[in-house]
Amino acid sequence: MRTVAIVPAAGRGQRMGADKALLDLGGTTAIERVVATCHAAGIDDVLVVRRDGAAALPAQLAATTIVVPSGGEMADSLRAAGEQLPDDTAAVVVFPVDHALVEAETVLALLATLAQPDCAIALPLFRGRPGHPAAFAVEAFAEIEASGSVLRDLVRKDPARVRVVASANPWVHADLDHPEDHRAAVCALHGEPWSTVAQMFRHRSHRAYRSEPLPQSQIERLVDAARHASTSSFIQAYSVVCVRDAEVKDQCARLCAGQQHIVQAPVFFAVCADLHKIAAACGRHGTSIQAQSFELFLQATVDAALLGQNLQLAAEAEGLGACMIGAARNHPVQLGALLGLPPHVYVVFGMTVGHPADDPVPRGRMPLPGVLHFDRYDATRTDAVLDGADAGMRAWAVRTNAERGGYQGRPVSEVKGWAERMAAMWGGSSDYVAARSALVDELKRLGFGLG
Ligand SMILES: Cc1cc2nc3c(=O)[nH]c(=O)nc-3n(C[C@H](O)[C@H](O)[C@H](O)COP(=O)(O)O)c2cc1C
Repeated sequence: MRTVAIVPAAGRGQRMGADKALLDLGGTTAIERVVATCHAAGIDDVLVVRRDGAAALPAQLAATTIVVPSGGEMADSLRAAGEQLPDDTAAVVVFPVDHALVEAETVLALLATLAQPDCAIALPLFRGRPGHPAAFAVEAFAEIEASGSVLRDLVRKDPARVRVVASANPWVHADLDHPEDHRAAVCALHGEPWSTVAQMFRHRSHRAYRSEPLPQSQIERLVDAARHASTSSFIQAYSVVCVRDAEVKDQCARLCAGQQHIVQAPVFFAVCADLHKIAAACGRHGTSIQAQSFELFLQATVDAALLGQNLQLAAEAEGLGACMIGAARNHPVQLGALLGLPPHVYVVFGMTVGHPADDPVPRGRMPLPGVLHFDRYDATRTDAVLDGADAGMRAWAVRTNAERGGYQGRPVSEVKGWAERMAAMWGGSSDYVAARSALVDELKRLGFGLG
């Protein structure tokens, strides 16, 4: 059977700020990668759909280019390509350039599935979510020509004819939409399909969750992995209280400024600095802990933070979402009592974890020269860094308002930059400082002498 791949690459890449087909993916363009993958999977012809006026594709691309008028939808591209299919076409693989990191193996598995009886559409599935490329028997694909029909309609029309192929490659589902997706893709090419570094770049705090619980085995795995972070002098001065009980979780939320994502998430982790076990160790050996030591307080707090960051990353690597909760320090004594913490233990921060139900715009970070210095701190760059941080904050606000209708249900100022926000938070009569003015006394009551 003749198989033809159609590669829709007619968009302007407005969110990416670049033509996606021509993105550099580790020395080769996205379109070259897709075309090579198609040929590696034994596809006979590749039709690349470009908009009128788009930049030229790389020379010697083993594909036929079809030009469509600018401004159309993906379905228009598919219809235009559909008209050019050779008569003996039996199967069509729709392979958007966004999914350039999908491997030939996935395409082969889709085509093998499509050859099974009663299968007219084969889709790859990553963690339960369908993606691309999608393979169609030519008769099913022809339905796209019916006006108004899009790929999704074909899939939904008759689920009995659809089969899925499970894939461990996140790029069947992830799009190359934004610059951070591109960065993650380049990282992925340097590592595994979803490398740790790529995962870090994709971090976002999630503040809405689906209700499904996390299995105990997953909770244990995540915390066990997280505690393998480095620990000062092997003191392991941390502990984690995993709150699942709805009543206790509600009370945690109340003590953490009423944050509703704590109520909603199936799990709220209290990440604690914990000198209790060292105090017990000292007692066992006839001495007592130097709990007044600021150094020991700092070591325990740093240890807990390292575990916490590891925990968030581990959760994200397993497809979960998380948000750290510094508001756990609003009422440390009350929170400690609620969670039954022994002396010498306090909650450094909390963390909501669950299956995310939101899709926040990534916040990005200030320009790297504000953070990374070589050999010597270079403060001459600070002004430029603040300007860059302001611009990044405003760009995030514009995108959040346009794409998500605001942040937590409210429009965000597109004028205020990062510096102005920091000045309001931490300069002059800072509410943040005022709100935590009792913190040192409360930590002392919890058994941290703080010098
Ligand atoms: C220690 C710590 C405490 C935090 N506390 C809260 C919190 O109480 N509530 C909240 O919604 N987000 C909290 N955050 C999340 C930050 O607001 C978030 O990381 C930051 O705005 C950057 O956004 P991003 O994580 O989506 O990149 C906290 C983050 C850290 C590291």
